[in-house]
Amino acid sequence: MIGRLHNLISILDLTRQDIDLILEHSAKMEQVAIKKSKDLEGKIMACLFFEPSTRTRLSFESAMFRLGGSVLGFADVAVSSAGGKGETLADTIRTVERYADVIVIRHNLDGSARVAAEFSKIPVINAGSGSEEHPTQALLDLYSIKKLKGKIDGISISLCGDLKYGRTVHSLGMALSHYDVTVKLVAPPPLRMKPAVIAEMKEAGLRVTEVDTLEEGLKDVDVVYMTRIQKERFPDVREYDALKGKFRLGLKEVGLMRDDAIILHPLPRVDEIDPEVDSTPQAKYFEQVHSGVVTRMAILKLILG
Ligand code: NCD
Repeated sequence: MIGRLHNLISILDLTRQDIDLILEHSAKMEQVAIKKSKDLEGKIMACLFFEPSTRTRLSFESAMFRLGGSVLGFADVAVSSAGGKGETLADTIRTVERYADVIVIRHNLDGSARVAAEFSKIPVINAGSGSEEHPTQALLDLYSIKKLKGKIDGISISLCGDLKYGRTVHSLGMALSHYDVTVKLVAPPPLRMKPAVIAEMKEAGLRVTEVDTLEEGLKDVDVVYMTRIQKERFPDVREYDALKGKFRLGLKEVGLMRDDAIILHPLPRVDEIDPEVDSTPQAKYFEQVHSGVVTRMAILKLILG
């Protein structure tokens, strides 16, 4: 149970029971988010964002404020001693643990959140570690699926786009391993899903297929999960240039989807979903943004409450 869990570093830290508990608590937070509460009054959350963020940081802050807690941190590494003066991550953590009750960290290096947790006496939540993982995004994605489709077991889902460097699809793929789902992995060949994630899904007994065109990915599924090609993670920008714009979901492509299918995206989008798609009944990515607040309220309350 997460009540006894100190950190949230990998989605693999959670059992199916833990995930279901977080999703139940997230649903209860819908009302608390409107009324606000004082459940975490006196608690302080430190947000250490070494990489850009809009939704993750602001939804964590909004979640903490709605629970009566306080927030400090930096959103730009250049203004911190880690960026400006070369302070180590270990020293940054050993400092911030004296100012706060929980640390939310985003960092460009794989393994960074795990390292932070090793040096921290207070709980650490991974808000994105390199191209490796983004566990709280996976939880809000599952919450969105459950809310919008009424269930997770029994659904079929296509994970589309940059499955190599995209951390959200790594965490979501592993989270889905706890459920009875059919998964299509939809990526241009150079951006195929990490073998370790495929192994995890297959070992759990999921029906997994790989396809390399978006058109194939859109047909016969309940959920289309689009992602951005992660330009900043390519070792050579020419590789990115060769792949950019390959997957574009426009009105014509939406026509290939089931009428009751939904489109999710962790956002930000670049050009992979045309703005004209936003007004279709399938487009649910801005509703998914709201799930970020209630899911993070549930996570903070289970860790600090
Ligand atoms: C994602 C991330 O940071 O990994 N954004 C988010 O947290 N919603 C997705 C991305 O940057 O493409």
